[in-house]
Amino acid sequence: MAEFKEAPAGSSALTQTTVWLENRFPTAFAEYKKHLSEYYAPKNFNFWYFFGSLSLLVLVIQIVTGIFLVMNYKPDANLAFASVEYIMRDVSGGWIIRYMHSTGASAFFICVYLHMFRGLMYGSYRKPRELVWIFGCAIFLCLMAEAFMGYLLPWGQMSYWGAQVIINLFAAIPLIGPDLSLLIRGDYVVGDATLNRFFAFHVIAVPLVLLGLVVAHLLALHDVGSLNPDGIEIKAKKDPKTGIPLDGIPFHPYYSVHDLIGVSVFLLIFSAVMFFAPEGGGYFLEANNFIPANPLKTPAEIAPVWYFTPFYSMLRAVTSDMVKVLMVIVAGAGVLGYLKAGLKGIWKFAPLVVAIAIEAGMYAFDAKFWGVVVMGLAVIILFFLPWLDRSPVKSIRYRPNWNKWFYGIFVIVFFVLGFLGTKPPTPTGTLIAQTGTLFYFGFFLLMPWWSRIGEFKPVPDRVTFKPH
Ligand code: HEM
Repeated sequence: MAEFKEAPAGSSALTQTTVWLENRFPTAFAEYKKHLSEYYAPKNFNFWYFFGSLSLLVLVIQIVTGIFLVMNYKPDANLAFASVEYIMRDVSGGWIIRYMHSTGASAFFICVYLHMFRGLMYGSYRKPRELVWIFGCAIFLCLMAEAFMGYLLPWGQMSYWGAQVIINLFAAIPLIGPDLSLLIRGDYVVGDATLNRFFAFHVIAVPLVLLGLVVAHLLALHDVGSLNPDGIEIKAKKDPKTGIPLDGIPFHPYYSVHDLIGVSVFLLIFSAVMFFAPEGGGYFLEANNFIPANPLKTPAEIAPVWYFTPFYSMLRAVTSDMVKVLMVIVAGAGVLGYLKAGLKGIWKFAPLVVAIAIEAGMYAFDAKFWGVVVMGLAVIILFFLPWLDRSPVKSIRYRPNWNKWFYGIFVIVFFVLGFLGTKPPTPTGTLIAQTGTLFYFGFFLLMPWWSRIGEFKPVPDRVTFKPH
């Protein structure tokens, strides 16, 4: 056991209590130092670095409001819708708790999308932060599952039909599909069994995994240290005496106070939406979800909530014509791999064999299945980003200028896909979504090639920082 410390004679009650605690729980004090008061973060964080701590704040809001919602919510197909109305009208403060939770869901995705985009811009996913990024991608997957299951709980028309459509997609998977969708639903149609299992997953199973992943995300980050908008490793230049990075400042109090600005602005906007526009113009809470679920009446338009629509758009973009285009692309990629990949011996044929296998699959299974595959791959591909990017520099600041336009187009494409996903399909809309889907995948799959070309700017030795 470590030596007991003594509080200096005549010290305040606070110091004495601190020493008493430190003697009994030194781990907490050591962790406080490691992760806060002696965690050296680069001094040049900008606006984009608010969204990690804001995501953490929204996570806490969702857990706390969720606990209070569960006190009055009834996970029963006959009672769920009315119990939400009861929370909104009769439970004291119930409406604010519910609107915090529903607005929080959208706020969560806004923060996380901005947080991910920051990573994309500054190359935060590159060596040695690959695992931080991978934990992040796993968090994103969990968040999608969490939001999807949460949306069923109010048992409105959109809850019901949205779940019906998405669960039916799983049925398109060859061999295991029908059994898998039955397992998810717990019944042949979305019903009470589905509501009960989604409730269990939404309130306990997924949040536990999410919390574990967030802890892993932050621990992994603190082991390697934070990057910054210049994409320079601050650990490369340390004070020889103290061993502290020259461009690093202690997270607490500098960034704990700095983040309070972000928190204040965020809470202002969050409150404005919550009090004045909790439906978010029909994007946060859809009009159809104010009507109780009716298994006998399909709504004219079924669209998922906005944060899923870019991926939903990609799913719908895969028509049988699109599959033909994909077959041509796969064939081209196979031949290119054979000619250019530089594989030796029998391995030289591997790209051709893989391409032929995929072609056969494309021929054998219908477009609906490939739509599901494309939608899944749109998320899975993010996990591979650290190995797709071959740029000699990390941050967009020192990449060729055209990269900024390229990233800009990527964002516009993502928004357009998101918008189209909220609308019923039209021939023009489908064509735009197909082009957008090809761009989205092209952006990532061709990254090993395009990220290396162009004129790179010299990266400075030390971070660029203007005192403000
Ligand atoms: C619940 C969701 C999440 C929470 C609470 C969270 C929290 C944080 C926090 C507090 C930081 C440090 C501060 C900062 O750099 O902004 C951070 C860094 C980071 N996060 Fe997340 N994160 C979440 C989701 C994600 C996702 C979905 C990704 C990517 C797929 C991601 C990728 C990263 C990366 C790469 C860093 C390191 C940034 C750097 O060092 O420059 N995070 N995260």
